[in-house]
Amino acid sequence: MIPVLDLSPEIAEIRKDIDKAMVKVINNTSFIMGEEVRLFEEEAAEYLGTRYAFGVNSGTDALVIGLRALGIGEGDEVITSPFSFFATAESISSVGAKPVFADINSESFNIDPESVEKKITSKTRAIMPVHLYGRPCAMTRIRELAEKHNLKIVEDCAQSFGATYAGSCSECENGCPESVKSTLKGCKAGTIGDVGAYSFFPSKNLGCFGDGGLVVTDDEKIAEVLNKLRLHGAGKKYHNEMIGYNSRLDTLQAAVLRVKLPHIDRWNNGRRAAAGIYNMLLEQRGLSPEFIQTPREAEGHVFHQYTIRLKLDKLSLFRDDVREKLKERGVSSMVYYPVPQDMLPVYTEMYEPCPVSKQISQEVLSLPIWPLMKIHMQEKVVDALENVVQS
Ligand SMILES: Cc1ncc(COP(=O)(O)O)c(C=O)c1O
Repeated sequence: MIPVLDLSPEIAEIRKDIDKAMVKVINNTSFIMGEEVRLFEEEAAEYLGTRYAFGVNSGTDALVIGLRALGIGEGDEVITSPFSFFATAESISSVGAKPVFADINSESFNIDPESVEKKITSKTRAIMPVHLYGRPCAMTRIRELAEKHNLKIVEDCAQSFGATYAGSCSECENGCPESVKSTLKGCKAGTIGDVGAYSFFPSKNLGCFGDGGLVVTDDEKIAEVLNKLRLHGAGKKYHNEMIGYNSRLDTLQAAVLRVKLPHIDRWNNGRRAAAGIYNMLLEQRGLSPEFIQTPREAEGHVFHQYTIRLKLDKLSLFRDDVREKLKERGVSSMVYYPVPQDMLPVYTEMYEPCPVSKQISQEVLSLPIWPLMKIHMQEKVVDALENVVQS
């Protein structure tokens, strides 16, 4: 069976260094806020090109703490994508604000700036774009909207560590001012808004060996609050100034991440290469574009997922049938996400579903991908898909 993700080849590559780094932490017993945490924060900030980076307990906490540091809470609205993992909307609800869902673009599956603009009200305080599957959102337009309406931006980068913004929005090339385009080109996802939030959940592009996250900003005042919030609201130990969280990145996880960080670009390139191979094979077999919409190898995309959109009218099959038939042929696949956030039971009757996101959620299928995936495995996946489509 081909799994959707195999972490073992990348761990094998760095196993000796990981073992050494973990033994070092165990020997010095500094398990909470140890030296490795500070060093990882410095190294991650340098890699991302941001001034401040703080390790936290998870990507969810990074979002919650980011929103809190911007003063977002009761009575505020935050516009986000319905097509994401629930932690995105949950973070907004859990600080007391209201998630407002703007629809997505049917090609990139990312939030559509035109839809964002329509959802702005007098209560809107922030936009939370999600760089889904590792593809950067249309940040030029999103930043333009934020500047025009005096809104904050919290970037959900849980799936996009290392993704780079190309400087123009592939979905909405029109209307990007040249000056904004050139200043944003080459920025890492998470460093364009006021706050960027990353997850180090093991399956993420940069994953640790448990839960972990990072929250970043360029703003000194926001940084001060982020740092306090993750440490029970205390700048100085036992001098708590606000209600915060117990949300620290474990020293052991930071040690793992320090070993992995120098490899991230190579691994992300491996994912891009694997995506290019899938695109080529699917086209060669005549599956795309006729039966399948394949993801564009957009500049800076780091392919956390390789997600196709099935043209169900051409296939006369349901997506879950395709999934089941792939499984019978030894290929695992996943659906991210079968229910958009605005249609989840927790928000029952609060929202009118966003139509594009609703449709896409019934058609997407994520195929196996990891940085060191072997070509013969990708061929097996495509063989199985061809077989299902033609049976
Ligand atoms: C888009 C998105 N946002 C937020 C999160 C939350 O991250 P974590 O699981 O580290 O809390 C995830 C992780 O699954 C995610 O995919």
